[in-house]
Amino acid sequence: MPSRLNRRQFVRSGAAAAGLGLAARADGAPAILQSRPRPVVIASTNGHTRLHDGNESCVARAFRLMTGGTDVLESLIAGVNIVELDPKDTSVGYGGLPNAEGVVQLDSCCMHGPKKRAGGVAALEGVRTPSKVAYAVLQNTDHHLLVGAGAQKFARQMGFQVEDDLNTDTSRKLWLEWKRRLDPEHFLDPEKRAQASFDAGWSMVRDGLIDRDHFFGTINCDGINAKGEICGVTTTSGLAWKIPGRVGDSPILGAGLYVDGEVGAAGSTGRGEANLYGLCSFLIVEQMRAGRSPKDAGMEALRRVRANTIEKRLLHEGKPKFGLNFYILNKNGEFAGVSMYESSFAVCTENGPETRKTESLIEGKEPNW
Ligand code: GLY
Repeated sequence: MPSRLNRRQFVRSGAAAAGLGLAARADGAPAILQSRPRPVVIASTNGHTRLHDGNESCVARAFRLMTGGTDVLESLIAGVNIVELDPKDTSVGYGGLPNAEGVVQLDSCCMHGPKKRAGGVAALEGVRTPSKVAYAVLQNTDHHLLVGAGAQKFARQMGFQVEDDLNTDTSRKLWLEWKRRLDPEHFLDPEKRAQASFDAGWSMVRDGLIDRDHFFGTINCDGINAKGEICGVTTTSGLAWKIPGRVGDSPILGAGLYVDGEVGAAGSTGRGEANLYGLCSFLIVEQMRAGRSPKDAGMEALRRVRANTIEKRLLHEGKPKFGLNFYILNKNGEFAGVSMYESSFAVCTENGPETRKTESLIEGKEPNW
């Protein structure tokens, strides 16, 4: 199979896997015509804008593998590996922006709908593809989350290459620039100092040194195949310049990702703390279980986040001062990308990969910090 499908090939491969299909019955009775979900893979925008060295994006690869019969979760992880390995994406994996001490610490989790299993790692150092380590946790342990040195030891035992440093020249230079802007001697009050650290980072976004989406950057990718099997994966280097050991929403089941094979999947990018407070991916899946569409379920979560944001430092003109996106699909293959402010997401169906606008709760662009 060529690594890049043209539109016609996509239509052909998708048509074979999508739409109405014949379902074999276990009792051997004649097959009956049954409606099947349309296979789809969705992701954050970097799931279609990042190609690394090849010419296939995350959603395109995941869709190609999934509709070719590969396990849905393995397909999604193969997709996000493109972004994790891309040194130009400073929000995920190798080359992700480091913590306050200049160390890249990565978070990831994954969930397998049909198998009802999950795995995750947090504050993992030295492995370029934390999503694969999260999958190894799912496959090889009774646990759902390994962190820090333990996660790294586990990765080594599982045969992953552990490197001393996942910084690239770019991420190291940006970290040095942040240190220069921070000037810690002037901020003795811990609260003010934390704010100063955040402001220094955000000023680099305003100056165009860091992609705004890479400050809290992440990739989430979710898919459903024609059999209705749903999986998801989220992977990130977390908040740029975070306090060492800070873990955001990405590796936490129910926050950065939640999958219920009977209902749907939801995952997030953006300000992890806002999502963690409401466990929004879980909330969204529960909303869909109660009958809401992916879009309506996502909007409910965003409204909840907005209502919970009352601290002045997090508000701009009375509205949340941060971005938060959710990527959502249900068991029928219906999907939505929703966001606090105007944003986009990636999607791949039988018609090929594309970037679409999200539905936003608040009109306009995310305000600057
Ligand atoms: N959503 C990524 C993070 O906050 O770490």
